[in-house]
Amino acid sequence: METPGILLEDIDTPALVIDLDLMEGNIARMADFFAGVRATLRPHTKTHKTPALAHKQIAAGAKGVTCAKLGEAEVMAASGIRDLLVANQVVGRTKIDRLVALARHADILVAVDNPDNVREIAAAAQTVGATVGMLIEVNVGMNRCGVEPGEPTLELARLIDRLPGVRFAGLMGYEGHIIANPDQAVRERECRKSMTLLTEAAAYVTQAGLPVDIVSGGGTGTYNITGTFPGVTEVQAGSYLFMDATYHKIIPEFDCALTVYATVVSRPGDELAIVDAGLKTMTNEFGLPSVRDIAGATLIGQSEEHGKLRLDGASVSLRPGDKIHILPSHVCTTINLHDRLYGVRNGRLETVWPVAARGKVR
Ligand SMILES: Cc1ncc(COP(=O)(O)O)c(C=O)c1O
Repeated sequence: METPGILLEDIDTPALVIDLDLMEGNIARMADFFAGVRATLRPHTKTHKTPALAHKQIAAGAKGVTCAKLGEAEVMAASGIRDLLVANQVVGRTKIDRLVALARHADILVAVDNPDNVREIAAAAQTVGATVGMLIEVNVGMNRCGVEPGEPTLELARLIDRLPGVRFAGLMGYEGHIIANPDQAVRERECRKSMTLLTEAAAYVTQAGLPVDIVSGGGTGTYNITGTFPGVTEVQAGSYLFMDATYHKIIPEFDCALTVYATVVSRPGDELAIVDAGLKTMTNEFGLPSVRDIAGATLIGQSEEHGKLRLDGASVSLRPGDKIHILPSHVCTTINLHDRLYGVRNGRLETVWPVAARGKVR
């Protein structure tokens, strides 16, 4: 394994390389924003899946973390983080047993949208003497998970409130259907619609006599809309830490801090180069990743272990052995393909972080 202190060029490829100055700038920028508003940041660990980075976000002011899966939360809890939201439904005996076990070691919140699931978690929690905090997931327009606002939300809140073993903590609503909409006016308008649904649902529950402590939503594409919306108490942004080519187009205030470092392995033609970064190194569901800092070089295709570049102008001088940076189009799914993150500053490797929650999809 590479030792800190070596030159960037001596890191073997393919590798995920973090520009530490840029990443720290992103952490500070988001922390500054949340220092000035009422809502707090609960960063989503699905982006980095790396406890050391979650701790940096918390040290900068984040209240706790959001996790996509129970397995991710287990990794974060094992690293000493106590305030955890699993922003997903945890369903079935096997997982519920793990959830209540984890609740004995951390302040766990879980998203719920189904009364049977609530009853099962409550019963399991009681048998081990734990309490599981619950956020009701409200459908705010994404039409993924979630109950409808109004009476269905209140009914579920009442159920949670009267069952031992569980605690009604509030609501969450994820505006994922508009979060990356490139039209800022549309993004703002639709986000406000979603947050109106969410905060009105919270008011409805409060008026019925049940306190709603947490109203959670948002992400990188809406951090400043959701984060300033009256009644929203926390924002689940994740991608801001590293950004990617897709998000950077609409949220340019955060820098692209992570690249796929790759080596040219073949020059099969005057205008073609092949790199060692294919689909098993970087994902492309948001479009092909883009070559950074080499004018005229464009990624035009990927197979499992190869990336094909079309070369134009000065980039035709690329030779086998040359190393290049490629900007992912979707950072969260790309990181999940890797075991390690390589933190670089001033051209030298400074730190290597294991992606400890990689592949924790259960
Ligand atoms: C529940 C939930 N919250 C928040 C986010 C926002 O993440 P990001 O900041 O990467 O847009 C996501 C993204 O998938 C999500 O699923």
